[in-house]
Amino acid sequence: MNIGTPLSSFATKVMLLGAGELGKEVIISFQRLGVEVIAVDRYQNAPGHQVAHRSYVIDMTNESELRKIILKENPDYIVPEIEAINTDLLSEVDRAGHAKVIPSLKAVQLTMNREGIRKLASEELGLPTSNYGFARSLVELKELILDEINFPCFVKPTMSSSGKGQSLVKTESEIESAWNFAASGGRVDQGVVIAESLVDFDYEITLLTVRSKDSSGNICTKFCDPIGHRQENGDYIESFQPQPMTDIALEKSKKIARLITNALGGLGIFGVELFIKQNDVWFSEVSPRPHDTGMVTMATQKQSEFELHAKAILGLPVDTSLLNPGASKVIYGNHDADQIYFEGIDQALQFPGVDIRLFGKPKSFKKRRMGVILASSDTMEVAIDNVKKASLKISTKL
Ligand SMILES: Nc1ncnc2c1ncn2[C@@H]1O[C@H](COP(=O)(O)OP(=O)(O)O)[C@@H](O)[C@H]1O
Ligand SMILES: [Mg+2]
Repeated sequence: MNIGTPLSSFATKVMLLGAGELGKEVIISFQRLGVEVIAVDRYQNAPGHQVAHRSYVIDMTNESELRKIILKENPDYIVPEIEAINTDLLSEVDRAGHAKVIPSLKAVQLTMNREGIRKLASEELGLPTSNYGFARSLVELKELILDEINFPCFVKPTMSSSGKGQSLVKTESEIESAWNFAASGGRVDQGVVIAESLVDFDYEITLLTVRSKDSSGNICTKFCDPIGHRQENGDYIESFQPQPMTDIALEKSKKIARLITNALGGLGIFGVELFIKQNDVWFSEVSPRPHDTGMVTMATQKQSEFELHAKAILGLPVDTSLLNPGASKVIYGNHDADQIYFEGIDQALQFPGVDIRLFGKPKSFKKRRMGVILASSDTMEVAIDNVKKASLKISTKL
């Protein structure tokens, strides 16, 4: 395993497809290891563009646009940060041995769409999940919900993230608007939705799972401490680590995470989302990359999820240990505007153990994630309390 000199013909080159706030931190981790980084996103001045060696603005679902920059840059690793990417081309590039797709081609192909990953988890691996089915029209969706899934249930586009296009359906009269919402909320309109029964969980976690090489070159699986989180309308607003769990629930969670990540293969970090009720655990979904709720690891772990990802990709050994408990809380834009400023950061930073990341996004939307408040403390409860207090001090202004 060699790392070359950036900006030379010996450079180790990584291309990030998607350069949002998570990509930005992955890039910073690569930069620290002297890796040459190319950041690609669909809009100019994305957070990751601002810290990469070079950047491109393209539509990553467009094969010829993507091919052009891959040929031009000739990266060693291609690291997808989003789902909406032309995976046929990635497959061609990976198979031809031109670049390694991270964590693996299979992982990227199966997780780009809820249908692929759910079928692998439930039908091939036999993991417990909510009851689910897929519908390709409003008529099919009605039939599916009334005959099989029942109420309450979630309807989601098969290709979406951050709760986009997702709704909770409680009665028959709500099915049509859920269908319309899902059709408009998907990243790539495929006209396919998933309906899944509501799991009545006590709490939900992200189990960050890393597939990396140990110093003898063997692939091993390591787990971070479980991250608890709260979601509003399918979008994460707060996370904390370590989420207290029973030993049985934690062991079941690790078993599920190991099975699903083994099946997906490759090297890198995975965010395995699980629902927990007492000692019962359900698999929900998995991201083959750092997870938004995992931003808390910047305040809690020896190596953040971003550093873990970068090291695992390069074939380096990793350390997933927790240093101290902590919490994170999202800062939303609260305005639709081309530029905003943040007031009260100084006040927020007065609380013990509190830190902040502003992503530098060029445009604000009311519900756009613009930054995150982090806190470390001796207990998770104090950290949660401190991020809440800090967030009350911050406001976004025009
Ligand atoms: N079947 C379900 N039962 C209970 N809660 C759910 C279910 N599906 C989704 N949710 C809630 O919505 C959140 C977002 O759903 P998820 O499937 O993870 O979508 P996304 O890919 O947009 O993150 C979950 O973290 C959970 O809080
Ligand atoms: Mg999710």
